Amino acid sequence: MLFIEDLYVTIDDKPILKGLSLKVKAGEIHALMGPNGAGKSTLAKVLAGHPDCEITSGKIWLDGVDITEMDPEERAQLGLFMSFQYPLEIAGVTNFQFLHAAYQAVKKIKISEEEFTKILDAKIKLLEMKEEFKTRFLNEGFSGGEKKRNEILQMAVLEPKMAILDETDSGLDIDAIRIVSSGVLRLLSPERGLLLITHYQRLLDYIKPHFVHVVLDGRIVESGGPELAKTLEEHGYAHVN
Ligand SMILES: Nc1ncnc2c1ncn2[C@@H]1O[C@H](COP(=O)(O)OP(=O)(O)OP(=O)(O)O)[C@@H](O)[C@H]1O
Ligand SMILES: [Mg+2]
Repeated sequence: MLFIEDLYVTIDDKPILKGLSLKVKAGEIHALMGPNGAGKSTLAKVLAGHPDCEITSGKIWLDGVDITEMDPEERAQLGLFMSFQYPLEIAGVTNFQFLHAAYQAVKKIKISEEEFTKILDAKIKLLEMKEEFKTRFLNEGFSGGEKKRNEILQMAVLEPKMAILDETDSGLDIDAIRIVSSGVLRLLSPERGLLLITHYQRLLDYIKPHFVHVVLDGRIVESGGPELAKTLEEHGYAHVN
C-alpha cells in the first residue's frame, strides 16, 4: 500500500529525514512515535507533497505507483489522505463548500449539493458532530478538538485508501477520542492502510496498531508490536538507540 524507501528530506537545506524506510500493507495499522522534533510531522508533510520539503534521495510508492514527484492533488486522487497536527483555517469558505469541492476533486466526479448533503449528513452522524459544522467557515474559531474532529470528518467523506493522521488525539476530550477512534475504525477495511502519529498509548488502546515504530533523528530506529508503545510509555525514549 505505502512503501517509503530510504527517504532523505531537507527543509531549507537542513536535513530532517535521514534514511527513513517504512512499509504499510493493505489492512495494516501502523503507529509512529518518537520525541519532539524527530521528524514525524515532516514525514506526513512529505507524504502529502508539501513544497517546503525537498526529497534529496529515496522514493515513495503508493499501491505500486511512484508518487515521489507527484503534486498533492494527484496523490489525493490516488487515495492518500493526511490530517495535520495544525489544521488550516480558511475564512470565507464553509466546511460544506470545502468538503463538497474536495470530494469532487478527489473522486473526479461532479455531484449536486443535494446529493452531497446526504453523504455528509451520514458522516456527521457517524462522528457524532453538530450540524452547524457544515455552515461554519473551515476551522475558523474551531476549538483544537473541533479541528481534529473536523479532519476525521474529511477523512470519512473522502474514504482514502491510505490515511496518515498526525496527532489526531491531541486536544480531544475523553469522549471525543472514543468517538473519533470508532469513526476511524469503521473506515478501515482489508483494502486500506492507516498510519497514526501519536505521543500517547491512550489512542492505541482504541485503535490497536499491528506495528509500532520509533522515529529518532529522522529515521526509524526501532519497530515492534503494540507492546512497544507500552514500554515507551513506561520508560520514555532514553533506552532507544
Ligand atoms: N520549516 C522549517 N524550517 C526549519 N526547520 C524545520 C522546519 N520544519 C521542521 N523543521 C525542523 O525539523 C525537525 C522535525 O520536525 P517535525 O515537525 O517533523 O517533528 P515531530 O517529530 O513531528 O515533532 P513533534 O512530536 O513535536 O510534533 C525539527 O527540528 C523542526 O524544527
Ligand atoms: Mg509533529
